[in-house]
Formats: sequence, structure tokens, C-alpha cells
Amino acid sequence: MTPTLISAEPVLRDPNDGIAVLERTRTVAETFGIPLAVLAELTHRCPLQCPYCSNPVEMERANAELTTEEWTRVLTELAEIGVLQVHFSGGEPTARKDLVELVRHATQVGLYTNLITSAVLLTRDKLVDLADAGLCHVQISFQGSEPVLADRVGGFRNGHVKKLEVAQWVRELELPLTVNAVMHRQNIHQLRGMIDMAVELGADRIEVANVQYYGWALKNRAALMPTVEQLDEMTAVVDEAETRFKGIMEIDFVIPDYYATRPKKCMGGWGRQFFNITPSGKILPCHAAETITDLDFDSVRSNHSIAWIWQNSEAFNRYRGTGWMPEPCQSCEFKEQDYGGCRCQAFALTGNAANTDPACQLSPFHATIFKAAETEAAADQRRFIYRNFAGGTLEKDEPA
Ligand code: SF4
Ligand code: FES
Repeated sequence: MTPTLISAEPVLRDPNDGIAVLERTRTVAETFGIPLAVLAELTHRCPLQCPYCSNPVEMERANAELTTEEWTRVLTELAEIGVLQVHFSGGEPTARKDLVELVRHATQVGLYTNLITSAVLLTRDKLVDLADAGLCHVQISFQGSEPVLADRVGGFRNGHVKKLEVAQWVRELELPLTVNAVMHRQNIHQLRGMIDMAVELGADRIEVANVQYYGWALKNRAALMPTVEQLDEMTAVVDEAETRFKGIMEIDFVIPDYYATRPKKCMGGWGRQFFNITPSGKILPCHAAETITDLDFDSVRSNHSIAWIWQNSEAFNRYRGTGWMPEPCQSCEFKEQDYGGCRCQAFALTGNAANTDPACQLSPFHATIFKAAETEAAADQRRFIYRNFAGGTLEKDEPA
């Protein structure tokens, strides 16, 4: 189908899709169970080169990105169909020159806005403009608790110091702040320092998130996979910090699933609670869904409304519910609880997204794959493959 720009009527652009009547009689959110929050990846461009980036290894180039006009129409449509929150992400969303305009438009149509940023491109003036445009919340990623390691992981000189400065501006402007701490074998020893740093910055919340292994992180798994001992250490640090900072800062802990016995309910279940819009306008059931290479995704540049895509897209419907599940999931008592785990991880590790996530101990792949992870962690290979548009660059020297 030839892509066409979305029209000014955001929802009912395709009168022949059979959904129009439903949309007129009930709100679209009621009809389709539209998620409350959506991740808008404005660009894959980013000055940092984190080796665990959740973007696909094949990233979308700047000339494929939605225009300002297209994004504003998408934001209007999201608000009209019942979405309440938009998370502006990337790549690095502040690389878009029109970010203030997009935040202002999102505010005008009634969306709560969150900026997920590496912070290194922000100036204080830009942040003031964003706050004036109605920005509601800022989430800054940190790669360590001190500059040497943090700048090495991000592949960006002086990034850590800049992030600290921006975090202070965020608090001066009285915007709520979340610190995002992505954890892996090479920075777990700094977790305590990162939590203390977040408290000192006045963060409302810290997300201690272990790397999830698909895309760039899978490419770098040997350099990132923690040991079992490190996981125990991390859990103890989080437990202790939760007690120490109760009522001061909220701590969210995303555990690594390679050493789990049951998988996570990824995305709250495929096509149940979430969707993601890529820089070029593709609508995905999760931010890593493009790593599943045999799925096609519909775009906001097609003739279909976002509500239609959510309801009818083959990519969403392939793994919705439980009917698609193979054994052992099909007859498992937990199938409505975890929906078979993560489709992207199943594809990455077994070559078939319909397989049971190997994080589950009942998967026939569980033992071999997780033994391999343990062996990798013990081998302690340390050089990163940095994320870039060229498909990755191996870190020059063995780190000290
Ligand atoms: Fe979940 Fe499937 Fe494992 Fe059961 S077998 S716990 S449904 S992943
Ligand atoms: Fe895609 Fe889990 S990250 S389903």
C-alpha cells in the first residue's frame, strides 16, 4: 500500500474499515481498550552509544522521521481515542528541533507529557521552554555513579557531569524527576552510589532496571550479563535502600530474567496495555518488536486510524490472548498471568517468537540458554560494541 499522510480527521479516516459505527457509538478507548500511555520514539538519533540500547540494530534514519505536522496529528489522535499520557523518547528526543512545539501541542490536546532523555543536549533555556510548554515529568538515564565508568558505558565524554547539571535544573524548575539506572555486570558495584546520587538530586523515583537482552543488548550480552552473585548483591542493595529511603524516594526494581524461573509478563501482555510509535510512524506492540523479523507493522502514514491498527493489525493480533500459545504454555496454570513471557526474547533466543520465553524453567530451551549466560558472565569479556548507525563499533581498547 502506498503510504499517505494522515488526514485532519484523526480517527475515522477509513469509512470502509467497518469500525466507524462502533467508534461513533462508544468512545474509542472503550471499544478497543486503548492503552492509557504510549511511547513516542521521536528519533533514533542520539549522541550516546549505549551498548544496551533498546532501539533495533537497524535504526531509522532522520529522513524517514515523521514531520512536525505528522507528529502533531498523531498526538491529537492519541488524545481523541482516550490515551492519557505520552512518553517522548528516542534515541534522544531532544535531538528533534521541534520538541518544544510537540510538547506544547500534546499539552493543548490534554496529554500528560513525560520526557525520557539522556539529558546531554539540553540547555537550561531549552528546559525552561519545555516546562513553559507544559512538560509534566522528566526521566534521565544514568550509566553509573561517577564519570569514568558512566562516560565509558555511554560512549560520550563528560556526559555524566552534564546529566547531574540537568537533573539539578529539573528540580529547580520543580518538575518531577525519575532517575533511570540501567544495570549490568560492569556497573552493579556502583548501584548503591547511584541510589544515593538519585536521593541527593531530589529524584522522586529511581528505576533500577536490569538490561533486557534483545537488539543491541543481545549483541553485547557477553559484556553485560551479570553473575548470579551480582544479582544477589543487587537485590540486597535495593532491599536495604527501600528501607532507608522509605517515604523519601520510590524505588522500582526490574529484575533480570535470565536467572529467573518464571518469565515476566512483558508489556503487560502483547497488545493488551501498550503501544509504541517509531520515528517513522510504525505502531508496535512493544519497543523491541521490530527485532521479530517476520512481523509487519502498520504505520500512522497508512490509511488506517491508530484505533484500527490497535484492533486489527496482524502484528498485534498474532500474539494476543492465549489461543496462539504452544505447549507447555497452552496447558499451564500461569498462562493468563504472564502470557508466555516476552515474544522478543523468545525470538532472540529460539528464532521463533511463538515459543515459550526461555526465561521460563518449563521451556525446553531454558537450561542450555541460561547455562550459556552463566558461562558468558564468568568469562568476563568486557569490551562493548557501541550503538551507532553503522551497525556498531567495538570499543577500542580493553578497559582498565
Ligand atoms: Fe508462563 Fe508458559 Fe512458563 Fe507457564 S509455561 S509459566 S504460561 S511461560
Ligand atoms: Fe517485546 Fe517483551 S520486549 S514482548
